[in-house]
Formats: sequence, structure tokens, C-alpha cells
Amino acid sequence: MTKVLVATDKPFSTIAVNGIRKIVEDAGFEFALLEKYTDVKDFLEAVSDVDALIVRSDKVTKEVIDSAKNLKIVVRAGAGYDNIDLDACSARGIVAMNTPGQNSNAVAELAIGFMIYMARTCFTPATGSELYGKRLGIHAYGNVGRLVAQKAKAMGMEVMAFDPFVSVDIITKDGVKVANTVEALYENSDYLSLHIPSTSETKQSINYSLLSRMPKGACLVNTARKEVINEADMAKLLAERNDFKYITDISADNNTELTTFAPRYFATPKKMGAQTNEANVNAGLAAAKQIVEFIKNGVTKFQVNK
Ligand code: 3PG
Repeated sequence: MTKVLVATDKPFSTIAVNGIRKIVEDAGFEFALLEKYTDVKDFLEAVSDVDALIVRSDKVTKEVIDSAKNLKIVVRAGAGYDNIDLDACSARGIVAMNTPGQNSNAVAELAIGFMIYMARTCFTPATGSELYGKRLGIHAYGNVGRLVAQKAKAMGMEVMAFDPFVSVDIITKDGVKVANTVEALYENSDYLSLHIPSTSETKQSINYSLLSRMPKGACLVNTARKEVINEADMAKLLAERNDFKYITDISADNNTELTTFAPRYFATPKKMGAQTNEANVNAGLAAAKQIVEFIKNGVTKFQVNK
């Protein structure tokens, strides 16, 4: 019998797990669950006899792929698939997919919440400022970037975006200005919301040269990936400019150094952008449906490897 494993270090909500189980069992497949594992050995053991795998940010390394002798498909229930070794999947003919857009609203809402938190002095009674009339830069205009833009516009922010992979028409149709260069985006943003994926080109790309262009009192909001930030440069800038702020749900590697800049630096204890009931249900159930469609009908929509 086809066996589907949900392996999530950071578990889905119960309603999402039950929904995934129902889709899997209704298809006549076996359902297995591994949550909150602390030892990668437990993951390696759990994948040893499965045909399909659903993960979140869990690292699907070559070691995991090698242990999963029967694996045919892995679905990242979410957008970014930098946690999956795509080459290892392709070498074995394993299909890797994501579920684009399914958890975007949750991440976009958190980005807006982060801006309010910083504008309102980390929810202390000190005098803060308003988002209304401020300039927001959106770095990468994908599913999340678009939703952040929409919500920010509703709050009266002036929104500008930079994304060389999205047509100017799409951006301007949303009433969003287009930055011709990434430098221009940073120079003209009081708030900058990051939505770039982590790739070999983007890693460490948010560096001193870019960040130092931001205007006085600026705030960087990162709900994307920590790898895209050059942390040493971020620490240098926070040390040099006591007006600059950085808020994220992805703790930096060198968290101890950055925490010395609190409250201008704030990181949630765990990655939480997509951690809503709704996002868990949307992404989790989409992943389960994609697996059923692939196993039964060979549908490879949303495949991300070659
Ligand atoms: C994503 O890429 O979909 C988000 O970063 C969410 O990640 P998570 O499923 O680990 O919360």
C-alpha cells in the first residue's frame, strides 16, 4: 500500500493533520506522522519505507533521500523549497513539489504586524509613529509580496516594488510603483519587506551597501529567509545607526550579537510567518491532494525539480 509520511519538526495544527490524514486514507493510502523530532535519526527511520513525504522547513538532505528507498514524491507544504536537496531527488527520479500561494496570506499579515510593532515602539507606551503615508518597499513581488502591497495600500502606505522577474504591467496594475533598480528601492523605503527566496544568487545579498541606502529611521522586515541577510553587515549598520531597525521571524545565526541592539532588533523565538490554522490547512491539504493526484494520475503540476 502507498504510504504517505508527514514529517514536521514544527507541527501543523490538529485540524490540518486530520484533513491530510482524511485525504490520504480516502485515497486508499496509509498515513504516518512524525512530529517535533529532535534527532534526525528518527526522520531517517521514518522515511525508510514511505512512498510520499510531506514536510515544512524540515531538511530533506541527500541522507534523507538515501534512506527513503521507496520515495517517489516529496512535497514541501509551503513556498520556499531551499530545504530540499533537489539534485538528490532528481538523481533518483523523485518528484519534488511545493504548494505556492497556500500560506502567503499568513506571512503577509505577519509582515504588516511587524511594521506596526516597530512603528508603535514594540508595544510600549512610548510615542510611536503611523504607517499611514510612509513608504514601503517590497523586495520581490511574488505571492507574499503582492499581498503585503495590497494590505499596506489599504493602510495608506505608498508602495513600491522591485522584481526583475515580474512584468511592470502586473505591478503597476496593483497601484504599486516600480523601482528600476534594487538600490532605488532601498533608497526610497521607510519600511522594506523582504520576499526573495534563498538561492545561490540571493544568499548574503542584503548587505551593507544596500541597507545603508535606507533613509533615516528605516526598518527592514524579514519574513523570507535568514540566509539572504549578511548578518555581519547588519550588525555593523545597527551599531553605526541608532535610527535603523530590523525585525524578523527568522532568528539570525549570530543572534547573540544582534540581540544587543534590542529593541531596534527583534526576532520571534521561532519562525512563525506561516503558523496559522488557515495556512496549515491550505498548505497541508494542498500537499496531500498533490500527492494523490501524482500517485494516481501522474500529475506533476507544481514540480520544482527537473
Ligand atoms: C514557506 O517557505 O512556505 C514559509 O517560509 C513557511 O515555512 P514553514 O512551513 O516552515 O512555516
